[in-house]
Amino acid sequence: MPDHAIIIDTDPGIDDAVAIFTALASPEIEVLGLTTVGGNVPVAQTTRNGRAIVALAGRHAVPVLQGCGRPLILDPQTAETVHGSDGLADLDLAVPDGPAAAAHAVDWIVETVAGRPAGSVTLCALGPLTNVAAALVRAPDLAERLAGIVLMGGSVFVGGNTTAVAEFNMAVDPHAADIVFRSGAALTMVPLDCTHKALMTNRWIEQIDRLGTPVGHAVAAMLRFYQRFDMERYAFAGGPLHDPNVIAYLLKPDLYAVRRCHVAVEITSPLTRGMTVTDWWGRFAGAPNCGVVHDVDADGFFDLIAQRLADL
Ligand code: BDR
Ligand code: CA
Repeated sequence: MPDHAIIIDTDPGIDDAVAIFTALASPEIEVLGLTTVGGNVPVAQTTRNGRAIVALAGRHAVPVLQGCGRPLILDPQTAETVHGSDGLADLDLAVPDGPAAAAHAVDWIVETVAGRPAGSVTLCALGPLTNVAAALVRAPDLAERLAGIVLMGGSVFVGGNTTAVAEFNMAVDPHAADIVFRSGAALTMVPLDCTHKALMTNRWIEQIDRLGTPVGHAVAAMLRFYQRFDMERYAFAGGPLHDPNVIAYLLKPDLYAVRRCHVAVEITSPLTRGMTVTDWWGRFAGAPNCGVVHDVDADGFFDLIAQRLADL
């Protein structure tokens, strides 16, 4: 019996792909489905990528539902420079024949959670929060029906990666993020403060390649492409593997340090829009609404991901 039943809301995206593979490989996790959102690339492509990832993992029964194609208010913003023109390093992964699922991701999230016992489904959000916010608007009781929402996004002390203060998922749809952070759902945020503490090494990527499987080869090729961006831009020793931290946190929370804080998303100022304003000292805002994951055992994290990828 898996410990977690999850929905992965995602914009694959190379690090999203690694997160999805890790979840699909983990017996502690039942992946109920992927819901796609526009983010790293437009939503039609994130849906194709989601279907290709599930197929490469041999998990054809996991449904992939297409969601929102644009942020709530702002114009779309994508990240092909980081992820490649197709979002997955232009590897041209095979997409299964046949039509995509007909239901809309937002409907499917609401109906899937309503159809299961309260508190039994965790929503893992790896992209802009447009679908999640739309689902919470459509069915406000979703906030209390979910076991929780674990999301990759935001930053506390390290600055942004899309503006000086905003992380990509927050910058793309800050208005959706604002709805999510004010929803009352049990939130856990995995910000850049955590993900920048676990940087890949070429040796680790080679270890993944040496798995000798189609998934191992594809992941290694994607990661070689992906990590050059952060290494060049920030002079990092390796690329941060953001989104898999969400899945690793579910699998092994002991790898992480978490502090409960009040977090609000700036939506008004053009200068700081998308900033996750965090009351780190618990003195200036309301009661904590979020667990802020701020540190990680990097070796434990990379060992876990490598172990799980070996099982696909
Ligand atoms: C986030 O932005 C995307 O490019 C990644 O997939 C990740 O979700 C990191 O800022
Ligand atoms: Ca992502």
